[in-house]
Amino acid sequence: MKLKDKVAIITGGGSGIGRATSLAFAREGAKVVAASRHLSRLEEVAEAIKAKGGKARAIQTDISDYEQIKRLVAQTIDEFGQIDILVNNAAAMATNNADTVDMNLDNWDTALAVSLTGTMLCAREVLKNMIPRKSGNIVNVSSVAGLSGVPKESPYAACKWGIIGFTETLAIEAGKYNIRVNCISPGATLTDEFDEWIKRSAKDVGLTYEQVMTKLCDNNALKRAAKPEEIANCIVFLASDDSSAMTGSNLVASCGFHITHPNMISLV
Ligand SMILES: NC(=O)c1ccc[n+]([C@@H]2O[C@H](COP(=O)([O-])OP(=O)(O)OC[C@H]3O[C@@H](n4cnc5c(N)ncnc54)[C@H](OP(=O)(O)O)[C@@H]3O)[C@@H](O)[C@H]2O)c1
Repeated sequence: MKLKDKVAIITGGGSGIGRATSLAFAREGAKVVAASRHLSRLEEVAEAIKAKGGKARAIQTDISDYEQIKRLVAQTIDEFGQIDILVNNAAAMATNNADTVDMNLDNWDTALAVSLTGTMLCAREVLKNMIPRKSGNIVNVSSVAGLSGVPKESPYAACKWGIIGFTETLAIEAGKYNIRVNCISPGATLTDEFDEWIKRSAKDVGLTYEQVMTKLCDNNALKRAAKPEEIANCIVFLASDDSSAMTGSNLVASCGFHITHPNMISLV
């Protein structure tokens, strides 16, 4: 087991990549705290983990609210004693669909409050527990949208670019305390949220769902999208001692999208 008895907070741990990560962490022996706004989804994951003999807790948290993040961290320490790993996976997903000049500014504010400031605040709060113990591991979830421009999705792209810069900065700051900070940038990954995005994109460009999926996968060296479980396995790697020499890194897990398709202009 790669994460035996490690205490891990996974934001957005009740759906998609976060859900797969919660289950993968439990499989590797971690005590999992899944946190996001929708409690029922978190509880489903926690129950699935407990049913297999693991330890898990669902804590309803809106990461755009610092007080709720403080409560999440305090409750995790109350229950499990410490925090060894934070997976900063929660994000306001890409729904802007407008050039910046026409963008609803609420989309920008929400994306930054959740995906960037929320990521920073979760890290800041867990570090208060990690630094005195001189031990800890933070994995931030960026995206291939953090590697190139994404027309009509400037809030999402700006956050994902920001997360990579934040990862490098925090890795330098926290390294002296034996705390590693890395980042993962998935490409197309088959979650419900991604499915919704494909449906919206297909409607916008007048193609079928299948046509958009084919076009998208053709852009990838592996000619397919990733499964959430494959991204979860990469996150396990970054959170475990298997990656002990890595900090400040951005692991791209895109089925080769980033090497075959250097920008996202003709994505769909
Ligand atoms: N799927 C892809 O193709 C893909 C590609 C690249 C990167 N990613 C990244 O992977 C991560 C997970 O995405 P996904 O595809 O698995 O979609 P998802 O299931 O929609 O995951 C997003 C998660 O964020 C949580 N969340 C949203 N707003 C929140 C808030 N204010 N406070 C707390 N939690 C909040 C959601 O839970 P609640 O609604 O319960 O709050 C949800 O669990 C994201 O960072 C995304 O940018 C995904």
